[in-house]
Amino acid sequence: MSGKIGRIGIIGAGQMGSGIAHVAALADYDVCLYDVSAERIEAGIATISGNMARQVSSGKLEDKQRQKALSRITPAASFEELADVDLVIEAATEDETIKRKIFAQLCPALNPEALIATNTSSISITRLAAQTDRPERFIGIHFMNPVPVMKLVEVVRGIATEDTTFEAAKAFVTSLDKTITVAEDFPAFIVNRILLPMINEAIYTLYEGVGTVEAIDTAMKLGANHPMGPLQLADFIGLDTCLSIMQVLYEGLADSKYRPCPLLVKYVEAGWLGRKTGRGFYDYRGDQPIPTR
Ligand SMILES: NC(=O)c1ccc[n+]([C@@H]2O[C@H](COP(=O)([O-])OP(=O)(O)OC[C@H]3O[C@@H](n4cnc5c(N)ncnc54)[C@H](O)[C@@H]3O)[C@@H](O)[C@H]2O)c1
Repeated sequence: MSGKIGRIGIIGAGQMGSGIAHVAALADYDVCLYDVSAERIEAGIATISGNMARQVSSGKLEDKQRQKALSRITPAASFEELADVDLVIEAATEDETIKRKIFAQLCPALNPEALIATNTSSISITRLAAQTDRPERFIGIHFMNPVPVMKLVEVVRGIATEDTTFEAAKAFVTSLDKTITVAEDFPAFIVNRILLPMINEAIYTLYEGVGTVEAIDTAMKLGANHPMGPLQLADFIGLDTCLSIMQVLYEGLADSKYRPCPLLVKYVEAGWLGRKTGRGFYDYRGDQPIPTR
């Protein structure tokens, strides 16, 4: 990347893509938001608008800033509309096949100078980079959920990532007022290498009947001073994402200690993916979350 990053493309308008669009637009970047359908993009923009409105009510943002930031976000109906972006951040579903297909279709549409970043929580940056026409301009920029609130961003280089890409990625993250931690390209990097086995163990604890959902979450909130219980946190991350990360750890490190809990698999098979689908270890469809076990 020779010039400065001004315009960015985001692939995936879910929890993370919309969060990244939110912080980037507030930092004066023009954002093109792409997803599989216009409805998903509209839903993502509605979430951003609602979250920014909350920031206005709590005095963190002026309404003028909110309106200006929202006007910077435009929906993209095809990859061709990303032809003039300086950086693309891929934040689609945590599934390597989906990500591979995206890169195969995306690369021919992009400016050859554009950088590509992935927000993957666990998948090898080197392997994803190899699916593109520019492994030297490919990098992992791993935001935390919810993006507007969480300070940390992990930056992960693939084997071929050039120094200029690394420097541009760090400058971009710093411009969003986030703190960088650099992780090596190993399965699930730093945060999820440590966090997900803990969440998986909490699910085993539930599966083996050691405690109820409430008992486990209360134990870890009050006994380990965690702001959220591990099952509440799993629902917040998305149980499909939790399962994918455990599978990447299990396969990537070839160690049985990472085997995903069968109860996690069952919830995902039921489509109970946590907050985003209204039900996971808690049922969110009423006024108050109710444990489902
Ligand atoms: N949830 C978390 O806590 C968290 C934290 C950090 C990173 N991540 C990573 O961010 C990425 C997205 O996670 P999320 O929580 O936002 O998931 P999500 O389910 O909320 O959103 C995923 C979005 O990707 C879209 N999508 C699927 N296939 C697509 C395609 N072919 N083209 C364009 N869009 C497509 C879906 O329609 C959906 O809107 C994953 O790689 C995940 O591992 C998640």
